[in-house]
Parts: sequence; C-alpha cells; structure tokens
Amino acid sequence: MSHIDFYQFFETLSSTYTYILVDKSSKDAVVIDSVMATVERDLSWIQELELNVVYALETHVHADHITGSGELRRRCAAKYGIGAASGVDCADLLLTDGQVLNFGAQKIKVIATPGHTEACISFYCEGRVFTGDTLLIRGCGRTDFQEGSPQKLFKSVRTKLFSLPDETEVYPAHDYKGRTRSTIGLEKQHNPRLHLGMAEEDFCKIMDNLKLPDPQQMETAVPMNTACGLGDGKATKTEQKSV
Ligand SMILES: [Fe+2]
Repeated sequence: MSHIDFYQFFETLSSTYTYILVDKSSKDAVVIDSVMATVERDLSWIQELELNVVYALETHVHADHITGSGELRRRCAAKYGIGAASGVDCADLLLTDGQVLNFGAQKIKVIATPGHTEACISFYCEGRVFTGDTLLIRGCGRTDFQEGSPQKLFKSVRTKLFSLPDETEVYPAHDYKGRTRSTIGLEKQHNPRLHLGMAEEDFCKIMDNLKLPDPQQMETAVPMNTACGLGDGKATKTEQKSV
C-alpha cells in the first residue's frame, strides 16, 4: 500500500495541472506547479486536510501563467524550489540533477531535463514522474524561447525520462485535450514527436517549424515568475535574457 496521498488539480485558463503529494503519516506535503489563479483552491484543500506544505516546487519558469508557489511560501512557510539554471534568486532552493528532497518519510528526486527551457527539471516520486513541459502526453513543450533547445529536449527525454521503468506514470504540467496521465512505456510507443522510432534530426525539424504564437500571459508571467510570483514585475538579468 502506498504511503503517499496524491491529488491532481486543473487550472482552465492555461490548462495547467497542479499536483499535491502527501506523506500519509506525517501529513508533510509537496506542491508542484501551483497557479496563482487557483492558489486559494489549493490552500483550502491544504487547510481542510491539515497538510504541512514543506516544498512549493516549480518545474520551470512558466511563460503562460503566474505561479502560486510564492503565495504558498508566504502562507504555508513552504520552501520555494526551482531549477538552478533559472537564476531565480528569490527561491529558497535552486535544485540540481539528482538532488533528493524529503517530505515526512518520503523522497522526491530532481531530474534535470533541459530543452523546453534551459532550467527545466522533472520530479520523480514513487512510480510517478512530473515532467513539466519537457514531456507532455503525446507531445512536448515548445523550444523556441527561454533558451529552449530541441536537441537538449530530445536528449533529456530519451536518456533521462525514457530510462525510467515503462510503468512509471507520467504527469505533465499541461494537457489541452482533457487527458490526465500517461506512462513512460506509452510515450515511448505513441508520442508522435519522441517515440523510439523518431530520429533526433527529424524531431528538431518538427520543433523548428512549429511557428507558435507567444503565450497570452507571457509578458506578465515571465517577470512575475522570475520574482517568485509575488514580485513587482521588474526584470532580472536572467529574465531579460529569457524573453
Ligand atoms: Fe512552459
């Protein structure tokens, strides 16, 4: 029997998933990718279940919504954690590949998965991997801003995420079609961009020709998220480089 309670939430404007993982015995919890627009919902859940949020984690500096993690830090005294390469200096923890965080008796492991952005990280916890925008269900995040690189994304997925056991459940930061989870085995087989038969060169061609419009909230979201979601929107060096 699992010692972890797991909850998945959805924010409709940016189609973002927020995840809460709870160590059942201590009620210590971790929140991944909270969204400011729905942070009160997350906080109600946290209060009702009397959870002690020890970490508010971000898979990357999001460009499509303002993070709720700053508010969680303020209200729950959680530690704010994000990938080290983000240069988000208001964070409590700048996370690096292989780093392990403890919540109660449970562990969550950081996997550096650059590509969608240079600082993207994924989190692995007891048979589940939280992939941010690196690996989506039957897709992947764009690689055309925030120091994105299709070559790096391909490598991150193929060498790191696809080295996890096939039955590992995949929980992305977004889904636009109502799907809630996949598995590593299913993505190896059916991801149209990253399945095992896809060559790196062909993947890069696809990514370089997506020609997507910028996310609607990008101009607000990136400076706010670089300031941990609670800043005055002033750009930092890292953020100026990212836009
Ligand atoms: Fe993203």
